[in-house]
Amino acid sequence: MSEGNMRLTLKVWRQSNSNTEGGFENYQLEGISPDMSFLEMFDVLNEQLVEAKQEPVAFDHDCREGICGMCSMHINGQPHGPLQGVTTCQLHMRSFKDGDTIVVEPWRAGSFPVIKDLVVARDAFDRIMAAGGFVSVNTGNAQDANNLPIPKEAADDAFAAAACIGCGACVAACKNASAMLFVSAKISQLALLPQGQAERKIRAEKMVAQMDSEGFGACTNTGACSAECPKGITFDNIARMNREYLGAKLSSTNV
Ligand code: FES
Repeated sequence: MSEGNMRLTLKVWRQSNSNTEGGFENYQLEGISPDMSFLEMFDVLNEQLVEAKQEPVAFDHDCREGICGMCSMHINGQPHGPLQGVTTCQLHMRSFKDGDTIVVEPWRAGSFPVIKDLVVARDAFDRIMAAGGFVSVNTGNAQDANNLPIPKEAADDAFAAAACIGCGACVAACKNASAMLFVSAKISQLALLPQGQAERKIRAEKMVAQMDSEGFGACTNTGACSAECPKGITFDNIARMNREYLGAKLSSTNV
């Protein structure tokens, strides 16, 4: 990790667990390289805290390559910080200036309770996926691709929806803490492909029911979710989810 000469003030949310109140702590950092990632900068902070025999800041991370969706910091009021299409792990300190004060908070949503410091529980997303975000047909061996024709546009849209990494930035960005962008991406990637047709109707109903029972808010079409999504999941997925849900409801109630 290269040495640098940036000096920063960090205001970091510290909270012992979901049952205690949290608050901001100020930290001074020196020698930060513009080439460090935001998480590497936090590694430096934690080394400093451990050396001073203080509790390091808990934060989520895994791949540090923008793939896994684990990193989740709310930086200066924006999920994943100031750049578009970038996760916190791929944000670099060159996006900030020497002398900056940076405010770092956890995702703020009732359905994502704080576990500790910057780590929130996102298992509500796992339960939504378990409710219907899968294909349960026995697919056997991989077929020759030409045996299963898929229109190019549908394949492209399914692929784009499948780029969702489930980080929860959409929920954190939404004033209603709505999870509709996430759920709609997961429904879309299966509804658009032949493999997803067998459970298409019950999938939308079950996933939406689970989303509602988890306490996520409604969508009021502000589009903040899509604007802040690090993977560029588009708003039209929500329209597709609404169509899927309505179609499922109409056919299940024989209206
Ligand atoms: S740590 Fe995996 S996406 Fe950021």
